[in-house]
Amino acid sequence: MAYLSTDKVEHHFHDVVIIGSGGAGMRCALQLANAGHRVAVVTKVVPTRSHTVAAQGGINAALGNVVSDHWKWHMYDTVKGSDYLGDQDAIEYMCRAAPLVVKELEHFGLPFTRQDDGRIYQRAFGGQMREFGEGGLAKRACAVADRTGHAILHTMYQQNLKAGTHFYEEFFALDLITDEDGCQGVMAWDIAKGEYHLFQAKAVILATGGAGRIFNVTTNAHICTGDGGALTLAAGLPMEDMEFFQFHPTGIANVGPLITEGVRGEGGYLLNSEGERFMERYAPTAKDLASRDVVSRAIALEVREGRGCGPNKDYALLKLDHLGADFILAKLPNIHELAMRFSGVDCTKEPIPVQPTAHYTMGGIPSNRFGEVVYRKDGNPETPYPGLYAIGEAACTSVHGANRLGCNSLLEIIVFGRACGNQVMRRLKEHRYHPSIDEDCWKKGLSRVETWLDKATKREGLGIADIRSQMQHIMQEHFSVYRTEEVMREGVERLEALADELANAKISDDHRIFNTELIEAMELENLMALARSTAAGALARTETRGAHARDDFPERDDKTWLKHTLASIQDGKVVLDYKPVRMQPMTVESFPPKKRVY
Ligand code: FUM
Repeated sequence: MAYLSTDKVEHHFHDVVIIGSGGAGMRCALQLANAGHRVAVVTKVVPTRSHTVAAQGGINAALGNVVSDHWKWHMYDTVKGSDYLGDQDAIEYMCRAAPLVVKELEHFGLPFTRQDDGRIYQRAFGGQMREFGEGGLAKRACAVADRTGHAILHTMYQQNLKAGTHFYEEFFALDLITDEDGCQGVMAWDIAKGEYHLFQAKAVILATGGAGRIFNVTTNAHICTGDGGALTLAAGLPMEDMEFFQFHPTGIANVGPLITEGVRGEGGYLLNSEGERFMERYAPTAKDLASRDVVSRAIALEVREGRGCGPNKDYALLKLDHLGADFILAKLPNIHELAMRFSGVDCTKEPIPVQPTAHYTMGGIPSNRFGEVVYRKDGNPETPYPGLYAIGEAACTSVHGANRLGCNSLLEIIVFGRACGNQVMRRLKEHRYHPSIDEDCWKKGLSRVETWLDKATKREGLGIADIRSQMQHIMQEHFSVYRTEEVMREGVERLEALADELANAKISDDHRIFNTELIEAMELENLMALARSTAAGALARTETRGAHARDDFPERDDKTWLKHTLASIQDGKVVLDYKPVRMQPMTVESFPPKKRVY
């Protein structure tokens, strides 16, 4: 190994290090930097390229600008949408905070689309009703046309620049520095210069987003490789509820880019090959605005029963031309462009071919509503792990449970980014100085890079692009919208064999400067750890709940399975544990499980 002396590792000291520069990381950074703390955001991309930029339809808040609304109705919809797996204390916290944080965003300069009366524009979204499901559609999604994530990300970045947050751009996180006192920092690799950096901090926050790239067809960018979750697993901590992966009903068929649910919120609808509005059969009340798990399953069933569209009869059509070109270009300009570019369709004139597409990682790093990472200690699975926090899609807080409502993801990143910042400030009051850390702590991170570079010079083993593609196809074929024991068991076996191949894989570029193949190799290590956790949790869960739909166990089984899965990797094997759902909200009465109909 070429680098074994610490003078090759640059040592930084910050109060807080946040890994990831999406909306969650930047909202958290802003809270801390505005309070005068020395905050570092370590990010593998230029911040405004983080995947929050791709979020389209809106951010939920019961503002009641169009029709009356209440945070308790939002809470009820979120609990019901989660198929009762969501933790109700965290859900209450999020829905209550929503109006406040949205107005705060407005004051930060977020350019919301406006109603004629000047108030924030709100549209309908799936699974969201008024009066505890009894009062017709809610209009709760506060929108910036169909580019809401883009606007949030840029607003957060500008505010952070003003607040003095330190950005370390194009730095890849290699390893968490942990000892008996908790998390002390992170080792990172400067992608552009090929140099090592050790960040020491009194709090480390994982805000690395989702892992959609475990699947072959996804709305997620190439950067969504679950890096924070993999760092957590490598530190011996578990991942929670990874078997619940959300398939968005309307990704562009066969290629993946998102077509916002906001299209259906504005009056668009789905058709099968017979020209039928089939959602009327599956969800007589909410129809096309049923929750995502329900709509994705409906499309999958239509395709399975031969009513899919196109030459391979494998997609549905999303019709919106009746909304009119002026309306589409004003309120949905982004999807107009995406449909044109990725499927050659002018949606002001013809319907868009769409398919359920891997979209959102509802599982993640176990954390509570303060953003603290929690783990099992002395029998208590809710014990905070000192100094380590997780927020946003990387975390499982768990406000989404088994199925997330559209527009609760942008809400989650802002609410819990802010809440986590506040919680970290409490820690900083008690931890004024950086403790001394193990002088060899940088070696594990360094050896991750050096092992790959070493293999590059020997040029042995399978290429990583090949292994990544195989992994994505296994996940797509064996862990898609509908699942069965037989298909998943075969998937687990194939995946475990492939994980062994990865240990022997090679890269061909041995340079240190901007070696993107090296980064892809480490991203693949991360993806593989999360894919294995997803597969093992899915095979074990013998029920249908939210996004985990099993042909062989078609009913929800609250008696056995109203619990969270915890998957860790011990001695190279995935090991499963479980913990109870937090059914008790903070101040209101619990919403007990009941049959979900839309
Ligand atoms: O359909 C959408 O605009 C996606 C929103 C979300 O995933 O929250």
